Amino acid sequence: MTPNTPPTFRLAEPKLRIAPSLLAADFARLRDHVAVVEYAGAELLHLDVMDGHFVPNISFGPGVIASLRPLSRLYFDAHLMIAEPMRYAEAFAKAGCDLITFHIEATDEPERVIDHIRGLGSAVGISLNPTTPASAIESVIDRVDLVLVMSVWPGFGGQKFIGDVLDKVRTLAGMLRPDQRLEIDGGIDADTIGGAVAAGADTLVAGSAIFGKNDPAAAMALLRERAAAARA
Ligand code: DX5
Ligand code: ZN
Repeated sequence: MTPNTPPTFRLAEPKLRIAPSLLAADFARLRDHVAVVEYAGAELLHLDVMDGHFVPNISFGPGVIASLRPLSRLYFDAHLMIAEPMRYAEAFAKAGCDLITFHIEATDEPERVIDHIRGLGSAVGISLNPTTPASAIESVIDRVDLVLVMSVWPGFGGQKFIGDVLDKVRTLAGMLRPDQRLEIDGGIDADTIGGAVAAGADTLVAGSAIFGKNDPAAAMALLRERAAAARA
């Protein structure tokens, strides 16, 4: 279900994109903060869903996402840090998530989860924690639209970037087709974004480096500039 996403947006298009993470926004002003990054030229909105089981924190769920859906044309990129993706994926698809990413560590049956999410009409992403090797997703990598590498331990925004994951980013970049995206999430800021892009990431999640700044639009522009410079 993708009622609002502009028809011009194609996840398969290989371009650099910044994905602002709403986790770092003021939850009492979500509408304003979504509008700020949309106006600043974001294409994706990264939605961090935490259940207090898979990660030691609780954020927001499908109700909040469904309320934001009619207010924005951004591509809704849901990152499910939850223990039971099979059980809840449908609620997120119905809430209007265009892409649903689940964690490989949360399931023994990634094929089933992928087929289930695809059957709901959403694009599919698969995520790896910082120490999970690329080989953990080797058998299913050709079936997803996006791979999400965690560059912090999931659960909280504002953590320090774990540079060790860049080797894995390089490995995964070599395994993916041109129509598949490689996203990196955690500790991405003006200093770390260049290394992530140089390693092969094309979809860059940033929370505190955007919403933690006085001028989120200017912060996005700086990230975009640094990312472009690293790819050139
Ligand atoms: C962490 C989340 C991230 C987080 C990134 O569990 O998955 O998306 O919001 O936040 P920053 O950019 O502040 O590290
Ligand atoms: Zn995330």
